[in-house]
Amino acid sequence: MLAVIGGSGLDSFPDLKIERQEQVQTPFGNPSGPLSFASRDGLEYVFLPRHGADHRIPPHRINYRANIWALKQAGVKNLIGVAAVGGIAANMGPGVVVTPDQIIDYTYGREHTFFDGQFQSVDHIEFGQPYAEELRQRLLSAAKATAVEMLDRGCYGATQGPRLETNAEIKKLQRDGVDLVGMTGMPEASLAKEAGINYACCAVVANWAAGLESEPVSLAQIEEQLSISMGQVCELLMCKEMH
Ligand code: HPA
Repeated sequence: MLAVIGGSGLDSFPDLKIERQEQVQTPFGNPSGPLSFASRDGLEYVFLPRHGADHRIPPHRINYRANIWALKQAGVKNLIGVAAVGGIAANMGPGVVVTPDQIIDYTYGREHTFFDGQFQSVDHIEFGQPYAEELRQRLLSAAKATAVEMLDRGCYGATQGPRLETNAEIKKLQRDGVDLVGMTGMPEASLAKEAGINYACCAVVANWAAGLESEPVSLAQIEEQLSISMGQVCELLMCKEMH
């Protein structure tokens, strides 16, 4: 079974015929929505829209723990987080799809661990390579098979949102070695690791990050780019190389 958490621009998975939906309760509250189960060409999928089916949950209010817990309960072993991002690296402009290999976490105040000494006893995970290499490779093979231009590797910077960044913040991220900036990559990736779920990110560049163009970032352009790119991403996720 392959799980997909859909981000901005992917609140539903239109090409998959949903066979059943399950509203899962977790010790951490409700996930962003019901889990939608579907199968296609012998591969089973479970889909969860990160911001809710009607896109009403902002990045800092997403119940990341409930989402990961619900998927774990459903028996998920492999999870792709689809995420809209701003591009910082020169080769990561709008329309490019990237599977990053590193993360820097700038978020704050989010419930970010299962090992908080309450629900589960204190523990520490190793997180040197935050994404599952095997799953990243599967994404790259699927991209090749569907002729989607996907870049291998990059550092994802997770910011708090919901506002976009200042030009100076993006300069700082650039100095830090961040290639892509988004609001939801953490704590999703580390919670998946804590839960023992293989996790990789399929990052879709929607815009140049703040200050990299003379014009301010346009939200209308972000939406337009995402509506184009997410069609490609759906195709990629449904191809047999993802099995
Ligand atoms: N910054 C943060 N998150 C984003 C951006 C951005 O520029 N574009 C899409 N998600």
